Amino acid sequence: MIAGNWKMFKTRDEALQFIYAVNMEVPKKEFVDTVVCAQAPVLRDLVKRQGENLRIGAQNMHEEVEGAFTGEVSAAMLENIGVDYVIIGHSERREYYNETDERVNLKLHQAFRYGLTPILCVGEALETREANETNAFVKKQVEIALNGLGPRQVKELVIAYEPIWAIGTGRTATNEQANETISVIREVLKSLYDQETAENTRILYGGSVKPENIDGLMAEPHIDGALVGGASLDVKSFLRIADAAYTK
Ligand code: 13P
Repeated sequence: MIAGNWKMFKTRDEALQFIYAVNMEVPKKEFVDTVVCAQAPVLRDLVKRQGENLRIGAQNMHEEVEGAFTGEVSAAMLENIGVDYVIIGHSERREYYNETDERVNLKLHQAFRYGLTPILCVGEALETREANETNAFVKKQVEIALNGLGPRQVKELVIAYEPIWAIGTGRTATNEQANETISVIREVLKSLYDQETAENTRILYGGSVKPENIDGLMAEPHIDGALVGGASLDVKSFLRIADAAYTK
């Protein structure tokens, strides 16, 4: 699976230009799930124009059904306009908008209630990695996020391992670092659920993924795809990255 995370980029005009350019070019969905996670104002426009092999995701949602939460978007609203995926717990949301592991857990439950496929983001800061505490940190994030979810739900969701120090910095985790932490996440899934769940849950890597480094990442056994920020804004580089997943 290759998912683009546009963050707070692209006006409606720019978003439409992008989707017309990639729609017919992305790999067939039998081979790669290709997703664009866009900002709320353009979601409906993108859903209406998505080709057979492209799906649209949101970047966040609120955990409540509805209410007096100015500026927020609910799972029901996303489901109602035909969005399929939603990123939950991105490190930028955790850092700038106080999203805790507990809220991430509530959001995952809410996404499933409305038939949305969550892309759960986890990942450590540089200090955590340098203190050799990455595995324990990521384990705790995953355990709290998945609290109360059954194995069928977990196999449906997507996890993205995104080390914070690799996001937007041009500094990618090495292929081995990414693979190793993702294998730790699989161990956590095995201990919480079972071997089959651990093997069948899609786990992506994210953090400065580019056309230049995607092949090496895809060659690692535990990495099922990528969540791509900056490089997903450009048609050519997004398509090149999606193709790399096709040939895995
Ligand atoms: P970059 O690919 O720009 O480093 O962003 C990664 C990311 O945060 C995707 O969610």
